[in-house]
Amino acid sequence: MTDSVKAQYEALPYPARDPADEKRRLITGSPSFLPELNHYVFAGRRDFSRPMRVLVAGGGTGDNLIQLAQYLAASGSRHEVVYLDLSAAAREVAEARARMRGLTNTRFVTGSLLDVASLAPGSYDYIDCCGVLHHLPDPAAGLAALKAVLAPGGGMGLMVYGRYGRAGVYPLQDALRQLTPATEAPSERIAVAKALLAELPDGNEFKRNPFVGDHTTGDAGLYDLLLHSQDRAYTVPELHELVNGAGLAISAWIESCRYDPLTYLKDPELRRRASALAPLEQAALAERLSGAMKTHVVYVVAPDRQQVAVAQPAPDLVPWLNGVPPRALADTFAKRGELVVTFHTERFVFAAPPRAPEIAALMDGRRSLSQIAQALGLGWDDFLAAYAPLHRLLTGINKLFLRGI
Ligand SMILES: C[S@@+](CC[C@H](N)C(=O)[O-])C[C@H]1O[C@@H](n2cnc3c(N)ncnc32)[C@H](O)[C@@H]1O
Repeated sequence: MTDSVKAQYEALPYPARDPADEKRRLITGSPSFLPELNHYVFAGRRDFSRPMRVLVAGGGTGDNLIQLAQYLAASGSRHEVVYLDLSAAAREVAEARARMRGLTNTRFVTGSLLDVASLAPGSYDYIDCCGVLHHLPDPAAGLAALKAVLAPGGGMGLMVYGRYGRAGVYPLQDALRQLTPATEAPSERIAVAKALLAELPDGNEFKRNPFVGDHTTGDAGLYDLLLHSQDRAYTVPELHELVNGAGLAISAWIESCRYDPLTYLKDPELRRRASALAPLEQAALAERLSGAMKTHVVYVVAPDRQQVAVAQPAPDLVPWLNGVPPRALADTFAKRGELVVTFHTERFVFAAPPRAPEIAALMDGRRSLSQIAQALGLGWDDFLAAYAPLHRLLTGINKLFLRGI
């Protein structure tokens, strides 16, 4: 199976990227956006001027390699970001992107992550594995191989496909296997897939699924979504089981508001019943209600670090808003009394917590929480009571991270 996966990514490196684009933009995102992984793996307190060893396992054409190497290059010179992938063609693109940016903190290795201990030995403070485990014949073996090279106190950022958000993908993959066997050339298979997409009946589940769109991004995306030889998706409990089975624990589900059933429920009795469930059951319920989770992004750590890995409000920590000007956020809260957020076509409306405008206006990425409390004339306990709901809302939509320095 790994041979056909390798052949696919040699023929069609994914995602399709043009190294020249590095001149005009940096792609950032989850997992592995540095302020995010700091918040969810290192409690917001990683000193990035200290050397860090990072592994990007199944690095593809380099999106997460590049964002990690670029951010780390800005904070110190002795970091190492190791890229490992089966596909030499994908590596070529990733290497060209790193060259285009003049990055000197990267190292490239071609091979399977199952062999990471021999191909790229040593221990890693952080491991990125985005969109890869679900393409392994034995994802548990893959995660075990990564865990074996994880440094004590480190963590991983994982992305795997979500089962319900990919509704219709697997029956269509099966249909395409019937019409165009894997022995046919990729170009032939792509032509067959395009012809079939054009003729899908209106009732087809894939056609009615608004959440998956990779097939519209070009041939590499179409092949990855619909013609893959090795691909499975996870529900919340299944991903939990995969992670736990490897002797690891999930410290955070990213965009955590989407994993909270109360985000979707208004009826007081339904809310009461949902709140009575255990945390994992709540997340499982949220996924079943949403129907839109086509991927899951989680951070994972050693079980004894699960409680301490995530940053908690503390006087010395600095709240940092990701891509949201504090003044604009404060104005939105003040004028509308709510915040409207859209994730992959799902629209959520959150009521503004009390004092949200005043607190948000002071979140300039420099003031610590104790300085914000002071500016508002509040003692720490009173401030914390006012800040907690805002913190929960903004971290839940992944717009706020805490950092120590
Ligand atoms: C869907 S792409 C994701 C690439 C990248 N992580 C990203 O998020 O853009 C999957 C990548 O995993 C690589 N891959 C699959 N199985 C692998 C394995 N056993 N060891 C290393 N890389 C693997 C493929 O070659 C491909 O580049």
